[in-house]
Amino acid sequence: MRSVTVFAPATVANVGSAFDVLGFAIAKPGDTVTASTTQIPGIQIKEISGDDGRLPLDPHTNTAGVSVLALLKHLRTTDPSQFGSVGIELSIEKGLPIGSGLGSSSASTVAAVVAANELLGAPLTRADLLPFAMEGERVACGAAHADNVAPALFGGFVLIRSYAPLDVVHLPTPSNLWISVVSPELELRTQDARKVLKKTVALESAISQWGNAAALVAGIYTDDVVLMGRALEDKIIEPERAQLIPGYAAAKVAALREGATGCSISGSGPSLFAFSSSESSALQIAEAMKGAFTLLSVGARSYVSQVNAQGAVVIHKK
Ligand code: HSE
Repeated sequence: MRSVTVFAPATVANVGSAFDVLGFAIAKPGDTVTASTTQIPGIQIKEISGDDGRLPLDPHTNTAGVSVLALLKHLRTTDPSQFGSVGIELSIEKGLPIGSGLGSSSASTVAAVVAANELLGAPLTRADLLPFAMEGERVACGAAHADNVAPALFGGFVLIRSYAPLDVVHLPTPSNLWISVVSPELELRTQDARKVLKKTVALESAISQWGNAAALVAGIYTDDVVLMGRALEDKIIEPERAQLIPGYAAAKVAALREGATGCSISGSGPSLFAFSSSESSALQIAEAMKGAFTLLSVGARSYVSQVNAQGAVVIHKK
């Protein structure tokens, strides 16, 4: 039996002003998936740990399973003689809390497709794997958005210029950017956090949003952490979703008071992230944000790192 184990990191999607089109990877936490060959053709999920038994083992409803099934279907269609009778078994170790806004489903999905592809001799490139990973997001929340899966797969800041056709732009990794992420012990399903969003926006809000999103990208290119922080301003999504996160406003105030250049919701929440330009500031900011949740008797975990430029990595192969 051969096997490949892959780690895929947590990701911060939206990045304030760039809803559904920008995300970046952080160092940890993340999910680890082992793909092994089996005699039984098709995909099976052997085990999932770290999820308190909440995720389905049925590959047709598990996000990682769905993505690997789509990958295998594609490979079987393009090369039935090589891939027709392939059997893959997946073991998933959840390091990421479910419904945390840190790209939990994406990390499992990306780790699974990268591991399966590697196990099969890497017939597809990383870029080719993205549409398959996006299928998992469709199952997870009803929308095949790529702002978590793309950075989990490739690392760094990734911009989705267009979904149809898919047009992915890799941005540079600012060397002086530090990120504080705080994940309160609350759960918010992306599906629910998408339902609260209005389907139309006022032109005035749209003007503010594309000004900020463009400035964010400019800040990323010029290592300007102050501009990046200012450009997190989000007049469309944050006001709607902040109401779903008890303690959000206080945690944001605490981050800014501690010197963060900007702070916003990570993905669909309830986690938050803040930008700063040194590790010591980032650690203090994380503590301040955690403190705001403590005052409400809500436990929280914090993670401090720079941008993870690697994305998914093969950690074991035999
Ligand atoms: N862009 C998605 C959303 C990310 O905000 O709904 C979900 O993590």
